Amino acid sequence: MANLVKISKKEYLSQIINDPDRKSFYKMITDIFSLMLFHKRFPKHYFSKYLYKKYITNIKDYYSEEFLYYKLKPFLNEQAIVETVENKLYFDFYYSQFNIRLPKIHMYNHRNIFVKENEYSEINNIPDFKIQLENIFMQNPSYDSLIVKKTYGSNGGDQVYKIYHHQLTTDDDAISKLYTDVIKTGFLFQETVKQHPELNKLNPTSLNTIRFDTYIDKEGKVEIISAYLRMGTNNAHVDNISSGGCQVGIWLQSGKMKRDGFSSYRSSGTKVYTRHPLTGVVFEDFKIPFFTEAKELIIKTARCMPGLRLVGWDVAIGESEPVLIEGNSDYAMSGNDMSEGGYRTNATFRKILHELNYL
Ligand SMILES: Nc1ncnc2c1ncn2[C@@H]1O[C@H](COP(=O)(O)OP(=O)(O)OP(=O)(O)O)[C@@H](O)[C@H]1O
Ligand SMILES: [Mg+2]
Repeated sequence: MANLVKISKKEYLSQIINDPDRKSFYKMITDIFSLMLFHKRFPKHYFSKYLYKKYITNIKDYYSEEFLYYKLKPFLNEQAIVETVENKLYFDFYYSQFNIRLPKIHMYNHRNIFVKENEYSEINNIPDFKIQLENIFMQNPSYDSLIVKKTYGSNGGDQVYKIYHHQLTTDDDAISKLYTDVIKTGFLFQETVKQHPELNKLNPTSLNTIRFDTYIDKEGKVEIISAYLRMGTNNAHVDNISSGGCQVGIWLQSGKMKRDGFSSYRSSGTKVYTRHPLTGVVFEDFKIPFFTEAKELIIKTARCMPGLRLVGWDVAIGESEPVLIEGNSDYAMSGNDMSEGGYRTNATFRKILHELNYL
């Protein structure tokens, strides 16, 4: 995976001071004081969500990480069933029964027990591991790579490997590292999803997924709250923001992208993109193919598990249909807060605030 250089907080502060798009110091100080009074804590999100930029005037529509993390999520999902989405194997077992398009899992392991085609075997060395991988490629001649990802407890694309067929014979180091990681715990060996050519135009290095979030109200009605597209910007094969990806909001009605692309300030500093930094494609008005189908897929998926009332879903747009990659009961809501231009502007999000007595 591409290396991600993180900037220090000091460097970020100096970039803010020199940012031509920042508000005046006087305005920044008054903003910070008013947010302190409003949130009753120091508003760190004033910096992480670029609220110091001149064009962001509705600063009270944005929320702190702490509020989103501690005040909302714990009350909406039944903890006893979160593993249905948090564990990527259970996720596949559960949602595949509803005729939902998921990436095909060819093998999975827990430590040295590997399960393939309903049979299990014990693998204790790299040559046997290679044989198992080679068998998958032999049985699927159209594949040039496989995605190997940790079954549970991973974070932001950090243990999602892409392994190419040729590496089995040309890259002993990569296979040996993969084997060492895999046998420590549980991994899935999954089809590499091929994305729609339109999404390749935006960024061909990663599978660029849509993050939808859904809310199930007290009456059981499923609503999509918001959506944004993520894409890698540093040649990574994953699109996660913490791995260097960039996110752009999507208008739910039209399926067209909004103007601004945000990466983490820890990797991009004060930069807000309006076009992809590698391909140059302009974000605003870029139309996501199969967006209506993706929304239908997500509504159907969310309805399958009523105890998960607030979930972030990752959906890829394959060559001919949307593909559900994963669900997160504990998703980074700050991303949606930013792509919505402040979550409080979102009518469905306000229903959540209302249910939890914050409105
Ligand atoms: N089957 C696949 N084919 C191609 N790319 C994939 C596939 N699965 C995942 N990816 C890429 O890797 C990224 C991260 O994968 P995924 O969402 O499954 O894990 P994660 O976000 O790291 O998990 P967690 O939410 O548990 O931290 C995806 O958004 C996508 O860019
Ligand atoms: Mg994910």
